[in-house]
Amino acid sequence: MTNKQPIGFIDSGVGGLTVVKEAIKQLPNEHIIYLGDTARCPYGPRPAEQVIEYTWQMTEFLLQQNIKMLVIACNTATAVALEEIKEKLSIPVIGVILPGSRAAVKATKNQQIGVIGTAGTIKSNAYEEAIKLKSPRSVVVSLACPKFAPIVESNQAQSSVAKKIVAETLRPLKNKKLDTLILGCTHYPLLRSLIQNEMGSQIQLIDSGAETVGEVSMLLDYFAIANTSQMTQEPEYLFYTTGSTKLFDEIANEWLNVPVHSQHITLGGN
Ligand code: DGL
Repeated sequence: MTNKQPIGFIDSGVGGLTVVKEAIKQLPNEHIIYLGDTARCPYGPRPAEQVIEYTWQMTEFLLQQNIKMLVIACNTATAVALEEIKEKLSIPVIGVILPGSRAAVKATKNQQIGVIGTAGTIKSNAYEEAIKLKSPRSVVVSLACPKFAPIVESNQAQSSVAKKIVAETLRPLKNKKLDTLILGCTHYPLLRSLIQNEMGSQIQLIDSGAETVGEVSMLLDYFAIANTSQMTQEPEYLFYTTGSTKLFDEIANEWLNVPVHSQHITLGGN
């Protein structure tokens, strides 16, 4: 293994790009390969067994590209597949739920933490369990927001429809005493300003994906696999999608601010 191998990121669609954005910033010497399973997004409403199967298919594709570490940049996949994948792979594997939980425990002052995520993530109870292991007295209020990821995938995060859906969906959280809210889906940072406006400026939003990158950096050092070579060229960023490359590139170009020319692949014989 050489330290010049890329770090792999997977998500059900474009959501994991919010993690990549932070990785480009915090780890500018690392090559990155990203795979979004856009054709089968959203994963949120799918049964756990199916999410596990799809996550394995994405993982196997990236292993063939010789990655040195895998970041499951999807909460829904992390909730059901992380342990199994971590156990079977010989490279380090990290998900987004523990870093997000740790950051929320650190940030809260009143121990009243909200979590928003897909139906699958909320049903798994993974955030509440992780938070309570660190901080048993915390009160965790969870809410599934099944309409959010599809808005982002269709590149409508800036629309008035998005504003209305965010307002309607978050209403049940508004009379709670939360001081911290975890964006427990990697698509949600693309709706961050709408969410912040709706919840008020007193609420601290925790971006689980961005928090994860700090831990990726730490793991690269711990396993001595960071790319420490002097790079004469820019790092290589490769993007793959199972869906429309045009839509993927539109969202990715705008969000990452680097030119993205994704390649289309198929998974699972589809
Ligand atoms: N980005 C994914 C997550 O973090 C979910 C979107 C989906 O439902 O596929 O959970």
